[in-house]
Parts: sequence; structure tokens; C-alpha cells
Amino acid sequence: MDLSLPQSPTPADDALDGPLARLAIHVGDITALPAGLRVDAIANAANETLLGGGGVDGAIHRAAGPDLAEHCRTHHPGGCPTGLAKHTPAFGLERQGIRHILHAVGPVWPQEDGHEVGYAMPGAPTDDSAKLGYTHADNLLASCYVQLFALAVRHGVRHLALPAISTGVYRFPKPRAARIAFGHAHGHLHRHEHPERITFVCFSDEDAKHYHDAIQTRGEWMANRRRV
Ligand code: APR
Repeated sequence: MDLSLPQSPTPADDALDGPLARLAIHVGDITALPAGLRVDAIANAANETLLGGGGVDGAIHRAAGPDLAEHCRTHHPGGCPTGLAKHTPAFGLERQGIRHILHAVGPVWPQEDGHEVGYAMPGAPTDDSAKLGYTHADNLLASCYVQLFALAVRHGVRHLALPAISTGVYRFPKPRAARIAFGHAHGHLHRHEHPERITFVCFSDEDAKHYHDAIQTRGEWMANRRRV
């Protein structure tokens, strides 16, 4: 199910929100997208080994087939650090018209039980109460999207599908992650022709609501976040 994005109420806003016309939200499985979306690249919520796992990672490796993990072993033997992204061919996913898989490794949301990843702003709160962009985890997730878009430009991607990186096993708060994803996608599309389109692929209607809320309330939070 594709959810069209809210168009801006006034022409002036349209000038600001041109990128909105190039963004969409789709509820479904990123490894089984409707052919009509004409997606030619999908992003993966990977781990640092790039050798597969559960969630999106497991689904993509299953759909791409064992050649994907073998390619990562030989071409990315050191894996990928958190906050960065690597490109691979799509292998078995090519039968769906997908040409590229862009593997990003998102941060684990810091927990009191020792998952502290440090904070960009000394003294910043260690939970979701921190202002957007004021935790190290925010910066690492933002870096994932910046890296993904840079790879999309480098590889001439036309339509990129993005999962909600870090919001599953890695426990990143979903509303916060949706704002980071939308904020960076919106900013990138303002400055670049590629990708022509970006679709946020959510695994449930509930998850999609976080992206809709982020877009509907962008006037409230985009101005005063810390740009990362
Ligand atoms: N299509 C689209 N979205 C999906 C799919 C799918 N097939 N499967 C899961 N999701 C959603 C989840 O509901 C969640 O919102 O993707 C989001 C990211 O969840 P995870 O896949 O758990 O990714 P992440 O939180 O980044 O954790 C990454 O989990 O699977 C392992 O190897 C992976 O170690 C890595 C870690």
C-alpha cells in the first residue's frame, strides 16, 4: 500500500517542499516491492559483518541468495563500521529489477546496560528526551543516510527504497529515527537530482505513521534540530 505524502497547502511552501513530490511511504516487505514502484536500489539495515542476520538483513540475504554473503566476504572483508554504508550488486533481487543493494550499519540505541556509545554533546540526556541530533546515536544514524545517498548518487540510482534502519533489533526510537531519515532525505533531494525518488518502506501501518507524523510536523522540529 502506497501512501501519498501530504502536499503543501500553499504555493510558497511548494517551493520549499519540492522534494516532497519525490518522496513516498510504502507499507510492505522491502524484498517484495510492487513492480510498479520501479525501485532499482534497496538499502539494507545490516550489521558490521555484512554477512547477514535477522530482520531486513536476513530477508535481503535470503532474497539475494548466497552470492551476496560471498561477495561481501571477498569485496568487503573488513565488513562495514557503524554509521557507514557499502554497495553490492543485487544478485537474486535483479529478477525484480533491483540493481543495487546499499548496506548501512545503524547504531544500537544506547541502553543503561552498557550499550553506551558516547554522546556528541557532553552532558546531553542519554535517552529520547535529548534534542534531535544531540546524541551520538543520532549522529551515527544520520551518517548512515548521508552515506546511503552518496552511494545512490555515485551509482546513478533512480529510485531508492529505505527500511527504517536501527528501529528493530537495534531499538532506536521509531519516531526519532523517522525524523532523522526524513530530514536527511528531504535535505538531500533539495540538492541532488539522484535518486529521482526515495520511498520509505515500513513493515506495518503503525511504523508508517511515524513517517507521516514526522512529515506532517516538519515545521515544528526541522528548524530547531541540531544539523548533523
Ligand atoms: N521489509 C521492510 N522492513 C522490514 C523487514 C522487511 N522485510 N523486516 C523487518 N523490517 C523492519 C523492522 O520492523 C524495523 O522497523 O525494518 C526495521 C529495522 O529492523 P531490523 O531489521 O531489526 O534492523 P536494525 O534494527 O537496524 O538491526 C540490525 O538486526 O537483523 C539484524 O543483521 C542485522 O545485526 C543487524 C541488526
